Amino acid sequence: MLLPAWLPWVLLTGRAWANPRDYDNNDYFAIQLHPSAVPQDVARRLNVQYEGRIGELSHHYTFSCPRDSCRDVEESLQELQWRKKRRRRSLNGRDVPAIRRQITHDLRDVVWSEKQQLRQRHVKRIPPPSVQLARGPQVADGSKPDPATDLDLQDAIQRLDTIAQTLDIKDPIFKEQWHLFNSVQLGHDMNVTGVWLEGITGNGTISAVIDDGLDSNSNDLKDNFYAEGSWDFNDPGPEPLPRLFDDKHGTRCAGEIAAVKNDVCGVGMAYDSKIAGIRILSKPISDEDEATAINYHFQENDIYSCSWGPPDDGQTMEAPGLLIQQAIVNGIQNGRSGLGSVFVFAAGNGASFDDNCNFDGYTNSIYSITVGGIDRAGNHPYYSESCSAQLVVTYSSGHNDAIHTTDVGSNQCYNGHGGTSAAGPLVVGVVALALSVRPDLTWRDVQYLCIETAIPIHEDDGSWDNTTIGKRFSHMYGYGKIDAYRFVEAARSWELVKPQAWFHSPWLSVQHKIPEGDQGLTASFEVTEEMLNTANLEKLEHVTVTMNIEHTRRGDLSVDLISPSGLVSHLATNRAHDAEPAGYDDWTFMSVLHWGESGIGDWTVVVKDSNQNEFNGTFIDWRLNLWGNSINAQIQSLHPMPDEHDDDHETASAVVSTTSVEAGVPATATGPPAKPSDHPDRPTKPKPTDPTDSVVTVTATNTVSVPIATATATAAPEETHTYSDSFLPSFFPTFGVSKRTQIWIYGSIGLIVVFCVGLGAYFLVQRRKRLRNNPRDAYEFEMVGDVDEDEQQGLTSRKGRGKGRAKRGGELYDAFAGESDDDLYSEDGYQDTPSNDTGSGSRSGSSEDKATEK
Ligand SMILES: *[C@@H]1O[C@H](CO)[C@@H](O)[C@H](O)[C@H]1NC(C)=O
Ligand SMILES: *[C@@H]1O[C@H](CO)[C@@H](O)[C@H](O)[C@H]1NC(C)=O
Ligand SMILES: *[C@@H]1O[C@H](CO)[C@@H](O)[C@H](O)[C@H]1NC(C)=O
Ligand SMILES: *[C@@H]1O[C@H](CO)[C@@H](O)[C@H](O)[C@H]1NC(C)=O
Repeated sequence: MLLPAWLPWVLLTGRAWANPRDYDNNDYFAIQLHPSAVPQDVARRLNVQYEGRIGELSHHYTFSCPRDSCRDVEESLQELQWRKKRRRRSLNGRDVPAIRRQITHDLRDVVWSEKQQLRQRHVKRIPPPSVQLARGPQVADGSKPDPATDLDLQDAIQRLDTIAQTLDIKDPIFKEQWHLFNSVQLGHDMNVTGVWLEGITGNGTISAVIDDGLDSNSNDLKDNFYAEGSWDFNDPGPEPLPRLFDDKHGTRCAGEIAAVKNDVCGVGMAYDSKIAGIRILSKPISDEDEATAINYHFQENDIYSCSWGPPDDGQTMEAPGLLIQQAIVNGIQNGRSGLGSVFVFAAGNGASFDDNCNFDGYTNSIYSITVGGIDRAGNHPYYSESCSAQLVVTYSSGHNDAIHTTDVGSNQCYNGHGGTSAAGPLVVGVVALALSVRPDLTWRDVQYLCIETAIPIHEDDGSWDNTTIGKRFSHMYGYGKIDAYRFVEAARSWELVKPQAWFHSPWLSVQHKIPEGDQGLTASFEVTEEMLNTANLEKLEHVTVTMNIEHTRRGDLSVDLISPSGLVSHLATNRAHDAEPAGYDDWTFMSVLHWGESGIGDWTVVVKDSNQNEFNGTFIDWRLNLWGNSINAQIQSLHPMPDEHDDDHETASAVVSTTSVEAGVPATATGPPAKPSDHPDRPTKPKPTDPTDSVVTVTATNTVSVPIATATATAAPEETHTYSDSFLPSFFPTFGVSKRTQIWIYGSIGLIVVFCVGLGAYFLVQRRKRLRNNPRDAYEFEMVGDVDEDEQQGLTSRKGRGKGRAKRGGELYDAFAGESDDDLYSEDGYQDTPSNDTGSGSRSGSSEDKATEK
């Protein structure tokens, strides 16, 4: 028998790793144990095999047994999970299966468990073939009027020659790499050459491409290849070599970041940095593998480049499983010696299917930098998704060209790399350059630098909001396009931010039908200065909203979040293809639009069901989470690790005033440019035709749910108002904020709003005292004992559903069938908005066919 290829490497480095898995013959269980438990003892007690620790996660281990031979253990573990869920989620007996048998003494050390399953979970962010086919390589045709004169262009070519000479760049395709220096559409490039001329080329930084492999034998990569940080999780072993015919994506991404300056192909953004390959996309993998991959060598690998995720078919809503979430937070808190791994994710290519990066739990994580695409003329390409969680955009395919980079093979180049897949790695390259001069930047400093230095584009397209810190944000472009020179310059003198603080509101019960049509259902929560002081929270960065909505057609829903200063985040937008008969199950949306706000005042969510049809639903409850800079760095601790139940009802339900607002604008937001309601702070002309436009009617009754068990609640008197205001088109949100805030908002631009909301304000939290002392203790993460029966009442209808992650149609979506990078030139580079006409034209490619079938 041949020795496995990895054996010498293991002997050499002394590194052992968990036994390769054999899912055909074994069952595997990921189990979190109490810190004091010894996994070998547990294995003995349960009569299962101990396989080792899961990646870098503390107290998480894998156990196995021959397939189907430990049904007892499996059932007991399941029952244990149910029992915990029942206790912590306040489910009543009807909603959970009866406990089938006594949990044995043997499971006393088990905190959490999950049977592992192999799944093909992710697709590469290669754009689907577009509607208009224009095959064959083409150069940018300049069909758009280009303000550059011939003289400018000649000058640019001259400068490019000088740069290549000065830096001694002899790479044959360097001058085709327009994203590095664009000598045709002047200014449309990464603006990186100035950074290189200052001697900053990435020395000392290591990026890891988590993908379908990395060809370490490529002459354009091998000198920068970082073997120790690399691993193949698909064909376990230390060499992440491409093995399938289309395992080219990772190598191409790697080339964008760190292709060597030599005589092969082109150069990477950070051509003196190191690059590791972590292979996970080429076969089905388990959550334990993905969790391990995402923390792989996280003291050495600084940046993780992730150009993949759940399918961009406009009907998937999927977040990482708990193990992976924990690995992400583990990377943030412990990676890079505690400065935090930098995770960069491609925003997604589903714009033409109405997809939105807030339906993807990776791109909408506060821990990832989400990167969308623009084409070589600086326009929005048809594929790039919008969302309130998108931080920046950068160059990729479109306008009849794509990214030119290294390919699989010893001396192979590729000129068709595209989609948001190709945009993400360019930002990885920028961060690699910055970290090489400022290795002390934390993961949040890197996000600040993105916001600080991004350049807004197409500023008059109606998609931009002015934020309270003088920045502009667009759901389509984030804070703008990234500029390597500005980023690195700002990084040099950047003052590190204080540790992260957070505020979690209690769960806010709504329990109200969602009106269909133009009406919206609003619910508000007031954040006081005292709450934020108690939370040690000074200024906002990310805002997340976790919500539960029951609905028989998910794609009909949309959700806006309105901050105290009147800025509107479109958390969720309608998705025509999403017919899932489910609403949102503990789904967390994210926005970076409120970065820099104080957070004090009324926060309002507006839920709409814009399609008048037989599908309807109920807004159950929600929770507001504010994340930001701490007031006092000394007392700030790290956020507890995610726990399956930490979102659950350890606090009383509270508030809420719900109001149906009749609005004059269809809530369909199939894509930017944004709705007029984007701009409550900007005068907008009422639509001339609709007679109801000038009337805003607040009709619905309020429901104030007051927890029974906790008597300190005070519910303010409710009021129902009808008012008319001739200035205000009805599509202006009524916010549910205080009159004072409203006046402040509208008054500043000369609009007068008369508006009241009877806010049942109320909010009370059981264990209120503890909340005062430390909100974190009271709100979250502690192990709770049995929940008071009374307290359960308002909550019981919430959960009958088992959960963990949102289900999506077709979990076994074939990531690769028919997908080929080689169709890239077929893109339509001129569309400025996501196309809705996916039904027309002839198309090929199974990914698209799949996505459109219902
Ligand atoms: C691009 O880099 C140059 C230095 O090479 C710098 O002077 C210029 O300001 C940068 N462009 C922008 C838009 O910041
Ligand atoms: C890269 O950095 C190392 C120290 O981290 C230094 O020894 C080496 O000379 C640097 N190389 C270049 C090309 O600057
Ligand atoms: C949905 O519609 C059905 C029938 O039209 C109705 O019986 C049901 O109460 C509605 N549910 C909600 C939550 O509005
Ligand atoms: C937003 O800011 C820009 C300048 O950055 C300014 O020109 C514009 O008038 C502002 N818009 C509003 C509505 O204040």
